[in-house]
Amino acid sequence: MTSSSPIVCSISSPIVCAIDLPDLERARSLARALGKSVGTIKLGLEFLYAQGPQGIRAMGELGIPIFIDAKLSDIPNTVAGAMRGIVELPVSMVTVMAGGGDAMMRAACAVARDSATRPWILAVTVLTSLDESDLRATGVGGSATDQVLRLAELALGAGCDGLVCSPAEIGAIRARFGNEPKLVVPGIRPVAADDDQKRTLTPVEALRAGADRLVIGRPITMAADPARAARDIFQDLSEAA
Ligand code: C5P
Repeated sequence: MTSSSPIVCSISSPIVCAIDLPDLERARSLARALGKSVGTIKLGLEFLYAQGPQGIRAMGELGIPIFIDAKLSDIPNTVAGAMRGIVELPVSMVTVMAGGGDAMMRAACAVARDSATRPWILAVTVLTSLDESDLRATGVGGSATDQVLRLAELALGAGCDGLVCSPAEIGAIRARFGNEPKLVVPGIRPVAADDDQKRTLTPVEALRAGADRLVIGRPITMAADPARAARDIFQDLSEAA
C-alpha cells in the first residue's frame, strides 16, 4: 500500500475497461455485459483502426462514456485536425502523447475547449510497459518517475486536463501538482500477471494512491466471466472505501 488516504468512489464506477478487440459485435456485447461496475469504455488502437468513427458511434449508442485512446503524436496542425474529427464523436476522454511537445498539446486542448463534447485531454507520460532500462534504450536517463514528472509539467502547462501514468507515479504527481489533474491509470493488476505491463499495482492500491480512473483491460476482458471479474473488482474497491 502506498498511502493510507481514503478511497473516494464516484457515484459511477472509476473502472475504465479497455476493450482491446477489433470486432464491433464482440466489443458491443462485452460492453453491455459489463454493466454498471464499469463506468467508462476505453477504445484503443486495435478497435479504432478496425472500426473507425462508425464503430465509435455504434459503441456510443450503448450510453456508456467512451474514452478514445488515440495516443495522438504529430505536428500541431495535424493533431488539431485529428482532434476536430474526434470531438464530433461521442467521447469523454482522449489521449495525446506528452512527448509530442507543448505546441502539439496546446493545439489539441484548444480544439477540445471549443467543442460541444469537451472531452478531457489526457497526456500519456511514460507507457506502463516500459521500465528504466527500456527508457535508457530510448535515450532517457534518470528514473521513470523523473521522466513522468517532467512530461506532466509540460502537459499540465499546455492545458491538458490530466495524465495517463503508472500507479507507481501517482504519489509523486499528487505531491507536485495537487489533486486537480485527472489521473487515469493503466498497469492495474488485481493479481500479479506475467505480461507486458511492468509498472503495476492492484486496483485498491491505485485508487488509494489517488487515481481518478483505473484502466483495466485483460484482467476483465480475458477472464472466463468478464462481468463477474468487473463486479469483483468494483466490490473490492467499494469495500476498501
Ligand atoms: O490489458 P491491460 O489492462 O494491460 O490494458 C491496459 C490498456 O491501457 C491498454 O489498452 C493499453 O493500450 C493502455 N495503456 C497502457 N499504458 C499507457 C497508456 C495506455 O497500458 N501508458
